[in-house]
Amino acid sequence: MIRKYVFGDPIETDAVTARIPAETKEFTEDHIRLVKDTEKAFAPAGGMGWIPEGLDAAAVAAFAQREASPAAVFTCELADDGRIYGLGENIRGINKRGWIYESNCSDVPNHTEEKRSLYGAHNFLIVDGAATPARRFGLFLDASQKVTFDCGYTDRRRLTITVGEGGFTLYILEGDSLSGIVREFRSIIGRSYIPPKWAFGYGQSRWGYKCADDVREVVREHRENGVPLDSVYLDIDYMERYKDFTVNEERFPDFPAFVKEMKEQHIHLVPIIDAGVKIEDGYPVYEEGVKNGYFCKNEDGDNFVGGVWPGRVHFPDMLNPEARKWFGGWYKVLLDAGIDGFWNDMNEPALFYAEKHLEEIAGEIRKFEKDKLNIGQVLTLQAQFMNLAARPEDYRTIRHNCGGKMIRHDYVHNLYGYNMTRAAGEAFARLSPEKRILLFSRASYIGMHRYGGIWMGDNQSWWSHILMNLQMLPSLNMCGFLYTGADLGGFGSDTTEDMMLRWLELGIFTPLMRNHSAIGTRRQEFYQFGDKESFRRIIGLRYALLPYLYSEFMKAALGGDMMFMPPAFVWPEDEMAAQVEDQLMVGESIMIAPVYRQNAEGRYVYLPETMKLYRMRGADDMDAEILPAGHHYVRAALNEVLIFVRADHLVPMAAPAEYVDGVDMTKLTLLHFLKKEAVYEMYDDDGESRGETLEGHLTEIRLTGDGAVRVNGPALLSCEMMSV
Ligand code: GLC
Repeated sequence: MIRKYVFGDPIETDAVTARIPAETKEFTEDHIRLVKDTEKAFAPAGGMGWIPEGLDAAAVAAFAQREASPAAVFTCELADDGRIYGLGENIRGINKRGWIYESNCSDVPNHTEEKRSLYGAHNFLIVDGAATPARRFGLFLDASQKVTFDCGYTDRRRLTITVGEGGFTLYILEGDSLSGIVREFRSIIGRSYIPPKWAFGYGQSRWGYKCADDVREVVREHRENGVPLDSVYLDIDYMERYKDFTVNEERFPDFPAFVKEMKEQHIHLVPIIDAGVKIEDGYPVYEEGVKNGYFCKNEDGDNFVGGVWPGRVHFPDMLNPEARKWFGGWYKVLLDAGIDGFWNDMNEPALFYAEKHLEEIAGEIRKFEKDKLNIGQVLTLQAQFMNLAARPEDYRTIRHNCGGKMIRHDYVHNLYGYNMTRAAGEAFARLSPEKRILLFSRASYIGMHRYGGIWMGDNQSWWSHILMNLQMLPSLNMCGFLYTGADLGGFGSDTTEDMMLRWLELGIFTPLMRNHSAIGTRRQEFYQFGDKESFRRIIGLRYALLPYLYSEFMKAALGGDMMFMPPAFVWPEDEMAAQVEDQLMVGESIMIAPVYRQNAEGRYVYLPETMKLYRMRGADDMDAEILPAGHHYVRAALNEVLIFVRADHLVPMAAPAEYVDGVDMTKLTLLHFLKKEAVYEMYDDDGESRGETLEGHLTEIRLTGDGAVRVNGPALLSCEMMSV
């Protein structure tokens, strides 16, 4: 059951694809109360960020700096044992209770506990244990403006949601289970993005690979050591002076030939595309954008100037469909060179400075010069520099052309990265109608999950960030983001060999499996460390598990399900399971429990039911034991991955290969925990065609009590039971 309420005149986000009639009665719910609304805030013009026409310059300037006030406040009381799930990409636990979160896409280099928002705005949550007649419900706030979710931060017994000024749409979802509510939500927001199969291979990335030879070295090291690899990412240095859709010809002479050379080694190059377009005469993206009026404006109607990696940039107006189509069309330059994957970055959009303020500071420096910059002045300047990035008052001066009307940026801020990625996704549907293209983004909003995945942004090489990676997975899945993963090994700070191994032991399960790090940090390709054999075996295990992982991903995408589920979703009657925040079900058959503490030689695990533990040191080196339900301390040496298989479930595995195309998905060995009979429906396809469907792609694998395997379906599989 879904009920939809429209407040005021919302900006269309296209998050929801299903046609749902809006309630016509006044808002009264058993679930959540509307405690405050202001008529002004819901008013269609003026109060919504549309710039009223006919204002004089002073009035426009005043309007630009007016702080948006809350449009509405909703609240609901929480029971003592009440839990809150969802909110997608965010810090802290799977249960979101006890902190305050803001939907306000932000470029945050430090994902520390006091943060309230990261790069995405994902306004879907489930309350499980409201102290209202409706104990459990889902809620989606389709709102392009800032929304605050006070999940028991101000008052532990209360959830309070504050929606910033402007219209919005509220959906209330009822279902008989947590996963049922998620399925219901997913059914109205459209199918999740599906990448090509090679994008489930291992990717090596680093901000700092500067030329073709740097990339060749990465590939050679992997191939020579037998460590699987499918992609190498090109960070901003492949471009000419950080200009989108250019390639630096000195560093990458004959780029198409280089792309081909890599393809021959089964390596896909994945370049980064940034949101800001460098201001430079003669650069066609800049010139076309200016000529056609495709860039965001400032309050005077000139193109807004911001500062990001390329220096002074204009931002393409991703909210304007024509500009979106134009920007998307530019990806063709790289597609034509043979590229088939992209990551979109800096699209919150990140704003290192607005030119206006830089000039102000320059003026201050000149003024202070005569005093030879005394200490007070130095501190003043330091504070001013620190405070230059992402200032709300600067964002407020940006204007978008939405259907011919100008709208202030803060009313649509959370839709910017979404629409950049949509620009690319829509372009790929036109330019590559047969073949899937890899695409993921940093900033996002629900709706973007149909066009691309996301990576979790600039984490750090901290042990706590392995756990954060794990905890974000189910929350993202709830919001439709299935193709996702974190920078394995950590982006900022220096990693260590044991951290890299432990992180990979989680990363082998995440759809996006990419090792990425920042310039200036310790290098973290596997060959920088001593124990190459363990890296080879663990990364190899990912490839061996591909038949299962790809199948589970595709079933979740096509069936609108989660691939990663917290134990609370699978064993709702088990109060203990609801407490477990560091173990996840991955698909239907297995539970994972990665080690995320330094020097730990094992960890505590809670099993809601009897399971079979496979302790794996690689695809062909493991031991197994059956563990009863309850608490266990389970050993896990640095080179061991723990996989818990549910009773009467199967995990099809292949032999590891050096790249995804080399994995023989027809010759399988089955991890199993057989009690009576186990059945697994395995999805497989050619890994690249669009128009994916479950029909015609599922093969049933049945393991009967006497150990016989029967296969029924389109795939011609040979299957054997794992002997352990
Ligand atoms: C941003 C991205 C990061 C990238 C860097 C340089 O910080 O999040 O992944 O390496 O920019 O492009």
